[in-house]
Amino acid sequence: MRGLAGKRVLISGGSSGIGAATARRFLEEGARVVLTGLDQAEADATVAGLSALGEVHGLAGDVSLEADVDRLVGGAVQELGGLDVLVNNAGTAWREPFLEITPAHWDRIMAVNLRGMFLVAQAVARHLVAQGTGGVILNMSSTNGLGGEADYAHYNASKGGVLLLTRTMAVELGKHRIRVNALCPGYIQTPLNASISAGLDGDFVSGYERDHIPLGRAGLAEEVAAGYAFLASDDAAFIHGTELVIDGGQLAIM
Ligand SMILES: NC(=O)c1ccc[n+]([C@@H]2O[C@H](COP(=O)([O-])OP(=O)(O)OC[C@H]3O[C@@H](n4cnc5c(N)ncnc54)[C@H](O)[C@@H]3O)[C@@H](O)[C@H]2O)c1
Repeated sequence: MRGLAGKRVLISGGSSGIGAATARRFLEEGARVVLTGLDQAEADATVAGLSALGEVHGLAGDVSLEADVDRLVGGAVQELGGLDVLVNNAGTAWREPFLEITPAHWDRIMAVNLRGMFLVAQAVARHLVAQGTGGVILNMSSTNGLGGEADYAHYNASKGGVLLLTRTMAVELGKHRIRVNALCPGYIQTPLNASISAGLDGDFVSGYERDHIPLGRAGLAEEVAAGYAFLASDDAAFIHGTELVIDGGQLAIM
């Protein structure tokens, strides 16, 4: 991928799943990485597994909290001497029928997936504008931001919000040479999905793959990491204010 070598990259939610695979991919491309997660021990373990590939640091904090976001973004700027790319990836999900969602559960999903996305994006964008170099911000949405999967009303609403946040940021930040795009993965094998499907019938995953995904399988975290790397690279220099769907054809089904 062109233009990623030497780039200073902050990956929120980089301690696990898609974010950890993305940290690996950016390191393989020669970038310098700070990854974050909710849990310092998990971030440290992921860093330990990647450090042979290049410069990588791990920080912990909750993206829904302003003080934590200031500390995480400030820490990343300090570790890397500035920033060029934000992979705004941290998020959470759980299944819950619409009729049973409590206001507290609604608020938590929104706080992490939409407020957290906004807080991290704004803190990094302010840094990029002050730095004056331009940059790239990639926000994690989902196919659930484009279609209404049952039992995920709060999650779907948060990910739909990420798409309009992304477009609005693109409109406002283009003049600062900050490119902003979103990713919409479908069903990807990660610890998050493993914990969700653990509570369902044994054959849920194979039935889901057969009935909902034309390619007949779940995606891999590495296949989403490749999308992040492409959108951050110079090969995507004129791609701005849109989303990349990576779903094995799931949204193509009528
Ligand atoms: N797995 C999928 O099928 C899929 C599909 C579409 C979108 N996504 C999105 O991809 C992103 C990563 O998901 P994943 O499947 O790799 O999950 P994961 O659980 O493996 O990783 C989630 C990461 O986010 C961090 N995180 C969670 N809550 C946080 C908080 N409050 N503050 C800071 N960090 C927090 C975790 O520490 C971890 O590093 C999420 O935004 C998710 O919604 C996942």
